[in-house]
Order: sequence, then C-alpha cells, then structure tokens
Amino acid sequence: MNTELFSKVDNYISSLLAVEDEALKNTIASLNNNRIPQQSISPNQGKFLQVLIKACNAKNALELGTLGGYSTIWIARALAEDGKVITLEFDEHHAKVAQENIDNAGLSHKVEIMVGKALDILPSLIADQIAPFDFIFIDADKPPYAKYFEFALKLARKGTIIVCDNVIREGKVLDKNSDDEKVKGVQILNEMLSENNKVTSIILQTVGVKEYDGMVVAVVN
Ligand code: SAH
Ligand code: DHB
Ligand code: MG
Repeated sequence: MNTELFSKVDNYISSLLAVEDEALKNTIASLNNNRIPQQSISPNQGKFLQVLIKACNAKNALELGTLGGYSTIWIARALAEDGKVITLEFDEHHAKVAQENIDNAGLSHKVEIMVGKALDILPSLIADQIAPFDFIFIDADKPPYAKYFEFALKLARKGTIIVCDNVIREGKVLDKNSDDEKVKGVQILNEMLSENNKVTSIILQTVGVKEYDGMVVAVVN
C-alpha cells in the first residue's frame, strides 16, 4: 500500500478543506500530555462528518466514544446553533480531558458528556425520550458494534444518518477466522447491515494519515 502518498494527499486535502484551529490542535496535543491513545478521527474525517451533519440539517447528535473530544468538537461545530451533542464515554479520565478541550473550544453549551458504559446509558436515553437524534456517530469499543447500531436505530427517525468508525481495520475484516475481538465485532455489524432493510447503507474505505480503515454511512429508511 502506498501509505506515504495517501498521507501526503490527505494532508493536501486537509490543508485546503479541513484546517485545524488552535482548539483542535490543542485537543490532539492534550492526548499525549495525558497519556491517552491517539485514536481520534482525522481532520478530513471530521470535515466529512460535518458535511453529513449539514446535509441532514442536524440539530441533535449522539456520539459513542468521546476520547479527548476531538470528533465531538467537529460534530458540535456543524450542528445548528441551538443544537446539541450528547457524547458517551466510559473512561472518567478521557471524559475529564474531553470536557477541558470542549470548554477550551467554547462549546460547553452544545456538548453533554455522559460518563459510563454505552450499553448502560443507551437504554436510559430511550427511557428519557430525548430521541430522535438527527445524527449518530458510533466510535466506542468495537465488540458490541452491532448492539450499538440496534440502539442507534431505536434512537433515530427516518432520515437520521448513522456513521460507524473503524469497520475495515486494515482489511482484517476479510479474515473469516479472525480471533481479534475488534475485528469480530465489526464483522458482525457489517454482515448485519447486509440484511438490514431499515437503513440504506454503504461502507467507505478510508486511507490517509490514519491506518487503512473504513466507515459505515447509513441513513434510516
Ligand atoms: N470519537 C473519538 C475517538 C473515540 S476512541 C474521536 O474521534 O475523537 C474510543 C473511546 O471509546 C475511548 O475513549 C474509550 O474509552 C471509549 N469507550 C470504550 N468502551 C466504551 C464503552 N463501553 N462505553 C463508552 N465508551 C467507551
Ligand atoms: C481504535 C479505536 C478507534 O476508534 C480508532 O479510530 C482507531 C483504533 C482501537 O480501539 O484500536
Ligand atoms: Mg475511531
């Protein structure tokens, strides 16, 4: 794979269309400073989410997996001015650093971080009847991805866009005998989607500054 060329072209695109401001750059820097893994989406992927959010005129968004709040910031900025993103994060340390980054970006009024396991919080979101969300980004732990998608459908309406990160995993999804729990999790989701008539969906392969991977893009029928 021509990873060097893919990275150079990714940087060419982001220098034109996905330029990071100080708040986004500081968020990436905060991960190293706080020993948090560099698993944020790339600038171009952030801009891609913004294009989808604008396309569906989203006001309310749900995110699974906050990390340091990098993707949260891209999402929050694209939402309508009175819009809001609820983002779920299991790790208290990640949530604390994310809150600082979101405050620093001036987005506290648009973001609510809920700390806990997504599978524990999602039923309470259904019970609280704050759905439907207009845009849902699934990017937490990979083994329960299919369960997360089922919850997303319960929290969605016709036209809601659902995006799932990391569903190709450097092509490891081709290995039917993989014993990697992350690979197995996304394989179950991808196969479930092939039989799911509640959504119109596709997987985009992604190359660039991050490892070779892919994103599900689905719209609820
Ligand atoms: N969306 C972020 C990256 C998320 S990385 C970005 O692009 O900037 C995945 C995050 O999911 C990590 O912070 C991890 O702590 C969190 N996570 C892992 N298991 C989880 C669970 N069961 N519920 C909620 N969050 C979880
Ligand atoms: C992993 C998780 C992510 O969300 C990501 O974008 C890259 C890697 C991981 O858990 O390996
Ligand atoms: Mg991810």
